[in-house]
Amino acid sequence: MSADQHATWVERDRARVWHGFTQMASYADNRPVMVERAEGRELIDVEGRRYLDAISSLWVITLGHRVPELDAAMRAQLARVAHSTLLGNGSTVVVELAEALAGVVPVEDARFLFASDGAAAVEQALKIAFQYWWNQGISNRTSYLALGDAYHGDTIGGLSVGAGGFGTDLFDPLRFRGVVRAPGYRSASWLDAALDALAANAGTLAAAVIEPLVQGAAGMHVASAEDVRRFGRACQDAGVLLICDEVATGFGRTGTLFASEQCQLRPDLLCLGKGLSGGYLPMSATAASGRVADAFLGDDLGPATLYHGHSFGGNALAAAVALRHLELIDDWDVLGNVAARATQLQVGLAALARHPAVAAVRACGLMAGVQLDAAVGGPRSGRRVCAAAVDEGVLLRPLGDVVVLMPILTSTAAEIDRILDVLQVALEAVSR
Ligand SMILES: Cc1ncc(COP(=O)(O)O)c(C=O)c1O
Repeated sequence: MSADQHATWVERDRARVWHGFTQMASYADNRPVMVERAEGRELIDVEGRRYLDAISSLWVITLGHRVPELDAAMRAQLARVAHSTLLGNGSTVVVELAEALAGVVPVEDARFLFASDGAAAVEQALKIAFQYWWNQGISNRTSYLALGDAYHGDTIGGLSVGAGGFGTDLFDPLRFRGVVRAPGYRSASWLDAALDALAANAGTLAAAVIEPLVQGAAGMHVASAEDVRRFGRACQDAGVLLICDEVATGFGRTGTLFASEQCQLRPDLLCLGKGLSGGYLPMSATAASGRVADAFLGDDLGPATLYHGHSFGGNALAAAVALRHLELIDDWDVLGNVAARATQLQVGLAALARHPAVAAVRACGLMAGVQLDAAVGGPRSGRRVCAAAVDEGVLLRPLGDVVVLMPILTSTAAEIDRILDVLQVALEAVSR
């Protein structure tokens, strides 16, 4: 296809598609990549140009695009059923997925409530935590402890426990009250402050919600596993439910299947999304411990029931892909590759940290952020560095002045080197 056709697609797109977190008045000016297809770890645009997907399509893709085994799992399920509701009825492939997940999630006797987006998984966890106490006749545990810089999605509940920013402050009047806020991981004293906040409010908290190890959307701020462990254990010791939001960190990103494992935590509620289906299909889930789920048992149609559920929760196609995905993570030793590539990435980032346009680098597993020095890079430097990388065929997307690196978990050593080399070139281009 020609460049003219690219422009035509962008114009059709701009006219009818409203893109998330995107100012549509300048959408076309920012030279969007117009994806037509993909192969392995590359996206291919309407002109046939290839881009290494170094953000895993917004952190969702784990094994790659068009993985033959995942495609086959989806086709096989298509021959059975694409979707049927889980409201009051069952679906065999979802049962199989839930059984397989129960064997790997760090949750005691886990039960799974499926949804489609990460934000919905968080929303469900918040509501389950609230009703868990209500079902036991405890009416004063109605608030939540959350951290500064937290991001838990864009629904009103997710925004409420989230710390704001990203232009969402205008929604403040919609955020629910009753959120106790401690500092986020970027503060050296976050743990002490969070423990103090916990002690001061323990009797009225329904739950505490954290992103274990890495606050991703905050710009990849990393906490020590020991600090997260101490906080999580203190919550549970104080009788406060612990919600671990692993929407971003789950399914191998940080080097273990779940970040909670490195923190030696077994949360009461675990939020999963993004990589659950290998990034193929919108699927998320809230895993509740058996103790939490059992508190909802009662009379048919009675008040103990969780009156919550989404139309597409437990989609059969997504479940079939998610089930095969879990097997492939093992069969391909994906965690072994993450360990090797993470070490390589961190060595490369340490060298990049000496670049004058770089203020700091942060990484955990295959999640990394390169904080730019605005004084050197100038305004909108994150956007300009990423645009320069896209020109070189590596798809990056910034979070403000942090360039996010989220390589696909099966990336090769050569691909990690390419991402680092292109970032170096892009930094040069912007600092000139
Ligand atoms: C930790 C965390 N929780 C929740 C979400 C929201 O997920 P979704 O965009 O699928 O709603 C995200 C998205 O980046 C996230 O990083």
